[in-house]
Amino acid sequence: MSESKDLITIKDLCVHYPIRSGFFNRITDYVYAVDGVNFTIKAGQSYGIIGESGSGKSTIGKTIVGLEKATHGQIIYDGYDVTKRKNRKKHKYNKDVQMIFQDSLSSLNPRKKILDIIAEPIRNFEDFTEDQVKARVAELLNIVGLEEEAMYKFPHQFSGGQRQRIGVARAVASNPKLIIADEPVSALDLSVQAQVLNYMKKIQKDLGISYMFISHDLGVVYHMCDNLAIMHRGKFVEIGSRDDIYNHPQHIYTKRLLAAIPQVDVEHRDEHRAYRKQVEKEFTENQDKWYDKDGKVYDLRQISETHWVALPDAGEEK
Ligand SMILES: Nc1ncnc2c1ncn2[C@@H]1O[C@H](COP(=O)(O)OP(=O)(O)OP(=O)(O)O)[C@@H](O)[C@H]1O
Ligand SMILES: [Mg+2]
Repeated sequence: MSESKDLITIKDLCVHYPIRSGFFNRITDYVYAVDGVNFTIKAGQSYGIIGESGSGKSTIGKTIVGLEKATHGQIIYDGYDVTKRKNRKKHKYNKDVQMIFQDSLSSLNPRKKILDIIAEPIRNFEDFTEDQVKARVAELLNIVGLEEEAMYKFPHQFSGGQRQRIGVARAVASNPKLIIADEPVSALDLSVQAQVLNYMKKIQKDLGISYMFISHDLGVVYHMCDNLAIMHRGKFVEIGSRDDIYNHPQHIYTKRLLAAIPQVDVEHRDEHRAYRKQVEKEFTENQDKWYDKDGKVYDLRQISETHWVALPDAGEEK
């Protein structure tokens, strides 16, 4: 396989939300939702960002698509700096980068027909007649395995899995290069999860899209991601290839997320339970080994060509 080029690079991204309090509603502190993350997604690849609730995953996604403002840092897309809004139009960024939201019911306007929901990016970015728009919406519904007639219905008339697929169709509508998929299947039951993920994989293969895949569950994203970043408290604790993360995890937080994946293998269930307990013990008792005195994640250090881990300076770790 040839080496693919860098599609998007995020440099030292910080998103800090002010906390206001008191009679004068002054800023008294900040939520460091995202606190200095760096990563690159290559063309056609899938990048996973995994972490528990509140770690800052959605904030990264929303900042990349422009729904939140970066406090600090840069977004480089296709070689151009698109951190500032005015540069995005020039480089077709708003057409090329789309997002699938965490909650399909509230992200699809309940008063609009599916036709208008999916057609929105087409009408925004393409010079199509209404007949062409309709034909394109039919084609997109087809791609995600829904009937053409679905375009005349409203979001509440669909199941959660079908709504998520409508979200996929809308994200694909403008022929994007990158789709940010924020927990696209976490609200769905297991069989439907697999179905939606399979559609997403197929679309990726057919259309050559890159994904930034957000999840709290390392089990779900195993088949979806070439590279992964594990996020905790606004920072990355570990970055690596799929093999690095699943087979050679280094940070206790990564090990904890891996241990949380439900075991189907009945024979090793007791063993797994014991391992999980041991990881949990290490995580709660040895916080100062893995986090600094303020509970912050250490800076990342490179341990192989593809693998970075947040470790204290000296080298007394492990
Ligand atoms: N608009 C906002 N104002 C203030 N704080 C915010 C805002 N949006 C998010 N936060 C805070 O930033 C942190 C990160 O939130 P974010 O939604 O990115 O987490 P997440 O990793 O996506 O979590 P989840 O898995 O639950 O979706 C949280 O502590 C959250 O409370
Ligand atoms: Mg989120």
